[in-house]
Amino acid sequence: MKVAPSLLSCDFSKIGEEIIKVDKAGADMIHLDIMDGHFVPNLTIGPAIIKAVRQYTELPFDVHLMITDPINYIDAFADAGADIITFHLEANSDIDETINKIKSCGVKPGLVLKPATPAEAVFPYLDKVYMVLVMTVEPGFGGQSFMENMMPKVQAIKKEIQSRGFDVLIEADGGISEKTASIASNAGVDVAVSGTGVFKAKDTAKAIEILKNA
Ligand code: DX5
Ligand code: ZN
Repeated sequence: MKVAPSLLSCDFSKIGEEIIKVDKAGADMIHLDIMDGHFVPNLTIGPAIIKAVRQYTELPFDVHLMITDPINYIDAFADAGADIITFHLEANSDIDETINKIKSCGVKPGLVLKPATPAEAVFPYLDKVYMVLVMTVEPGFGGQSFMENMMPKVQAIKKEIQSRGFDVLIEADGGISEKTASIASNAGVDVAVSGTGVFKAKDTAKAIEILKNA
């Protein structure tokens, strides 16, 4: 799997150094969790911080929007330096319009499914997105337990992507660590997001390597 460390679990007082650390340790992209205190009961960072830290790496910025009206903020996140923008199927913005808006900004679009949302909900959009993100925790907080019961959903989406001949990545987010990575990998996950699993590890490079080879 490719590995996308989630900055949610980094030391925010030295976010630039944390980005450099995971870049040097072998990360494939940087995962940024954007929460609005409305779509999820937590608040994090916005475009100004993303823009400020963009200089610390050339790795792709994978921006996960947990906000109620993503379409209103696409320009700002694209301008801040996002390479991939994923937004929730359960959010309020029109899905096709939001995908088109992301593409028109020169950014790769992705859709996210909360645990209760079935695989089939994303099928009508598989020809339009770069990535599908399957949540393996309820969105809102780092450090939660991996939901292994999301693996049939990963498998169903993977099967649909392959049977229709598309080239869409499957990302999983939440509770992925050395212990759970092989479960995700065996189910067909292409990109593993990991917050605490990477940032709280004693040896960052080793933690990333274990996830990659799981
Ligand atoms: C949760 C976020 C995740 C989270 C992952 O809403 O989308 O990216 O930070 O953190 P861990 O790996 O600690 O579950
Ligand atoms: Zn995330």
